[in-house]
Amino acid sequence: MSMSSYFAQAESLDAANPLAPARQLFDLPSDQRYFLGNSLGPLTHAAREAVNQAVNAEWKTGLVRTWHDGDWFSLATATGNRIAHIIGAPSGSVIAGDSTSIALFKVLSAAAQKNATPTRNVLLCDINNFPTDRYVARSVADLFHLHYKECAVSEMATHFNDNVAVATASMIDFRSSEIHDVASVTAAAHAVGALVVWDLAHATGIIPCDVERHGIDFAVGCGYKYINGGPGAPAFMYVAPHLVNDVQQPIPGWFGHDAPFAFEDTYRPAQGIARFSSGTTNVLSMKALHGALEVFEKFPISSIRAGSIALGDYFIAGFDEHLSSSGFSLGSPRNSGARGGHVALLHDRAQELTEELIGDGFIVDFRPPNVIRIALSPLFLRFDDVAALIGRLSDAT
Ligand SMILES: Cc1ncc(COP(=O)(O)O)c(C=O)c1O
Repeated sequence: MSMSSYFAQAESLDAANPLAPARQLFDLPSDQRYFLGNSLGPLTHAAREAVNQAVNAEWKTGLVRTWHDGDWFSLATATGNRIAHIIGAPSGSVIAGDSTSIALFKVLSAAAQKNATPTRNVLLCDINNFPTDRYVARSVADLFHLHYKECAVSEMATHFNDNVAVATASMIDFRSSEIHDVASVTAAAHAVGALVVWDLAHATGIIPCDVERHGIDFAVGCGYKYINGGPGAPAFMYVAPHLVNDVQQPIPGWFGHDAPFAFEDTYRPAQGIARFSSGTTNVLSMKALHGALEVFEKFPISSIRAGSIALGDYFIAGFDEHLSSSGFSLGSPRNSGARGGHVALLHDRAQELTEELIGDGFIVDFRPPNVIRIALSPLFLRFDDVAALIGRLSDAT
């Protein structure tokens, strides 16, 4: 297909796109095409409005009374409920707060404390996991006197035995975008009595995670990527309802206490997921995240996944036709069923090309050694943006 037919195809795909109205919910810079919704999701009008309201009405006027008269106390669980809806978890099983790194430390520690014994003493981690996950998992293993082991997620089933206390992996690989088989890894872990902690950072808001259906024990995820909570947005934690009152997290702060304002001498964990809170809610950033999640009440995650696949397939068709013979190769699964929300494009000059693209308003990122990451968020990107990127890339070499 010639480049002009590829562009014409974008026009008709955009005209028929059921997600096209979602773009109006975002405040996007007019001089950029933004392919990094997997890194920092863009600003929504709803997030800005929520922060404005929190600053100019609640903080300015309500002041400290807003903790009681407003929604500040319930904000972490209300935000968690909006996330639960997207990841297929029951209401009341998710709480927002902390960063993903800290959230992971808390749930991994809870899992280790619950399941480790003198013989069940291995913590298994995805060797291709995001570095923070590997650092945190190793630290939890040290703190709980566990043996730390790493392997590829595809090989985890062969490592599961009666010695494994906890396994942890990412649902979607942050480099390649490969979707891991959450259902079968979780089932294989359970078959030997191990617990599993999934990092949903690159999955939340772009693909249904079916947390409850897959019987996931614990999960964490990121607030600033596809759910657009803003820079440094709170992360979230999920704990299966049948486990939550049976586990303890390692930072027993007053916000996770059953009666924070009773100021008791000793810690009594709250019932349910509230026990995974530690300190005071970061109200302003939580407001931004809570507001940003409104978009997902209007557009179901199943249609977002369909839109993301359509953009990804359109990108790969453009790659095959116009890029594959000019030094680029595909670093992501070609099959859309195995591919998450971004596409990894490989090139020997990936870093240099990334800088050139950004200079021209195509916002992508570079991951060493040779990866250009291109996130195809269907809530605000058009097929036209993808066509323009393919056009620009085909001129690049
Ligand atoms: C898969 C994954 N896990 C964890 C993190 C770290 O998250 P945080 O900065 O919220 O600790 C990231 C950041 O990009 C990530 O991609």
